[in-house]
Amino acid sequence: MDEQLEVLLTREEIQEKVKEIANMISDDYKGKEVLLVCVLKGGVVFLSDLMRYLSISTEIDFIAVSSYGISTKSSGVVKIIKDLDTSIEDMHVIIVEDIIDTGLTLRYLLENLRTRLPASLKVCALLDKPERRLLEINADYSGFAIPDKFVVGYGLDYSEKYRNLPDICILDGE
Ligand code: PRP
Repeated sequence: MDEQLEVLLTREEIQEKVKEIANMISDDYKGKEVLLVCVLKGGVVFLSDLMRYLSISTEIDFIAVSSYGISTKSSGVVKIIKDLDTSIEDMHVIIVEDIIDTGLTLRYLLENLRTRLPASLKVCALLDKPERRLLEINADYSGFAIPDKFVVGYGLDYSEKYRNLPDICILDGE
């Protein structure tokens, strides 16, 4: 079947929201230094916009995780396939995610990063699919709550495609 794209969030709406979130973070962390931990690959476009709107001292690092085995996307068993480059001990860390779906990835990341003794640990996610949540877990900074539709663009993919779209689109017929 042909894949069809329908714009859900325009690039302008996204930029407005990212600016809003960045302003909140800049206020909340005034006088502090933050480390943005981007969760690859989906979070990379959001990170690159967010960091440029921040007015506080900012460092970045990257982590990549994947679920173990077949159909374990919903098991919550996650492995790190690319770890952070440096220690986060005593740092103010914000996890930057494109989307929270079941919440399992985020639970794992929070549990894992907490053991590394950051000064603080918060979560910033552009998109949220509350209907899909399997755990009570939420972002401290959240952009848009969206319906349970397959979305692509602005970092999100379908079989690694569409991450480069500037808008966030619903993909039909995938
Ligand atoms: C997506 C997203 C989150 C996770 C959220 O990553 O970036 O990390 O899924 O899902 P969950 O709340 O159900 O755990 P994905 O595994 O698609 O990898 P990608 O970012 O490399 O595309």
